[in-house]
Amino acid sequence: MNDLQHFFSVLGDNDILHQQNDMAPHLMDWRGQFDGSAQGVLFPRSTKQVAQIMAIADEHDITIVPQGGNTGLVGGGIPDKSGQSIVLSLTRMNKVRELSVQNRSMIVESGCILQELHKIAEEHNLYFPLNLAAKGSCTIGGNLSTNAGGVNVVRYGNARDLCLGIEVVLLGGRVMNLLSPLRKDNTGYDLKHLFIGSEGTLGIITAASCKLFSLPKVRATALAGIRDIDSGVELLGRLQTKSGEQVEAFELMPASLLKIIFKQFPDIPCPLSPLPEFMVLMEIASSDEKDGQPDKNGKIPLHSVMENFLAEAFEDGLVNDATLAQNETQRQKLWDIREHGPESTKRESTPINTDISVCRSDLSAFYNGATEEVRKVCTRTRICGYGHMGDGNLHFNLIEADGGDPGWEQKREALKDAIYIALDKIGGSISAEHGIGQMKVDQLQQVKDPIALEMMAQLKELFDPKGLLNPGKVVK
Ligand code: FAD
Ligand code: LAC
Ligand code: ZN
Repeated sequence: MNDLQHFFSVLGDNDILHQQNDMAPHLMDWRGQFDGSAQGVLFPRSTKQVAQIMAIADEHDITIVPQGGNTGLVGGGIPDKSGQSIVLSLTRMNKVRELSVQNRSMIVESGCILQELHKIAEEHNLYFPLNLAAKGSCTIGGNLSTNAGGVNVVRYGNARDLCLGIEVVLLGGRVMNLLSPLRKDNTGYDLKHLFIGSEGTLGIITAASCKLFSLPKVRATALAGIRDIDSGVELLGRLQTKSGEQVEAFELMPASLLKIIFKQFPDIPCPLSPLPEFMVLMEIASSDEKDGQPDKNGKIPLHSVMENFLAEAFEDGLVNDATLAQNETQRQKLWDIREHGPESTKRESTPINTDISVCRSDLSAFYNGATEEVRKVCTRTRICGYGHMGDGNLHFNLIEADGGDPGWEQKREALKDAIYIALDKIGGSISAEHGIGQMKVDQLQQVKDPIALEMMAQLKELFDPKGLLNPGKVVK
């Protein structure tokens, strides 16, 4: 009997894939950087079925690789090439179990698609602020397992900050109920935080209690050319103060990235001409309808906050050009540019992708330092450092020189090292929001505190002594 046969006692035929063609989308990551093979892909529909699967896995020593929307960028949801693993897809566990308007919380199953959760919250005049370009495919279980960030962290925090509780199935099949949507609960160790960000190496998240917020009713969104990165950091602090902490997003984009986006997606219009070397996409939002109603001068109050802020920034020489969205269509066009960043760079070349974070105050030093180190290796590579400036988190990505570079593949390692040499000098994180997956397992061993690594290994041993849960990911 092969391992897969055991699971037919738990799931119907329609909830198990084992043909190579059917399994293919689950065995390769979004960027096409990691591929693996598996005995089968399972689609449980309830916590009980997940528990039964985890009991079988434990009994028969079967390796389980959890997967949500498979949008992860570090190979965390992709099995190894042995062909022995079972992929456990949570995507058919997608019910909303409860939504409380008064408690401002919802309990959802882990396979719920993030964008669907946005809609459901909005139907109740509430807001779930986790937001990333993969929102149409990624799942809340994947978001929590990677502790995803995205574009609204600067105001609301990352996935961890938005989670009140989780339900977890442990290896062997026990269900740990930490799901209560209490806002305060100091009853000993807060175990949910071990599973959030653990990338499926400690247990399977089957449901989560999520925090909800007031639904923004009006937004002011601007794209501004900035003098330099330090000016951007100064602007961010000023906007946070001036707007009364209403900054929802503050994203850095260099001209090098926008040129690639407009090349790959010619239908996306270019809002600033000529393109400044660095731009920030900034957004403030208010849930107070009055902030969106024209005043006696016909001005929208929240837009006036942004206009006045930009006018001052011009006077102080921090900003050299700007456009303010006048309506939702124009706003969407600005966001379209930002959201096409990952897809455009993927189409343009096989980029070197990073996901670093430094203190906001060190962003400029990092950018300049990394540029200098990279230029020592290659003078022609395009440097596209973009991302979540508000969180000190950049995707400092390198793209093959325009027109091609025959030595690109041979230079990759040296270029990657150059970025991390600069990061090491400043002291930052090698993974701000994407996680470790299989991509950074070895690198983690080199940069993390050795005692922390030892504690992580002991936790892994506690929850997964046989190494059956997502092996080869996060920990050695
Ligand atoms: P998967 O990719 O399926 O899995 C991710 C990890 O979680 C794997 O290790 C998997 O084993 C584990 N896992 C999944 N579900 C469970 C579960 N229920 N229980 C236990 N373990 C589980 N990330 C950001 O943080 N910020 C961004 O701005 C951002 N933008 C992106 C833009 C694009 C275009 C793309 C393709 C990706 C982006 N990402 C971003 C990365 C990715 O979308 C996130 O990491 C997301 O949280 C992954 O969710 P998923 O459901 O696709 O998880
Ligand atoms: C982004 C992804 C790559 O911010 O995290 O575009
Ligand atoms: Zn990002």
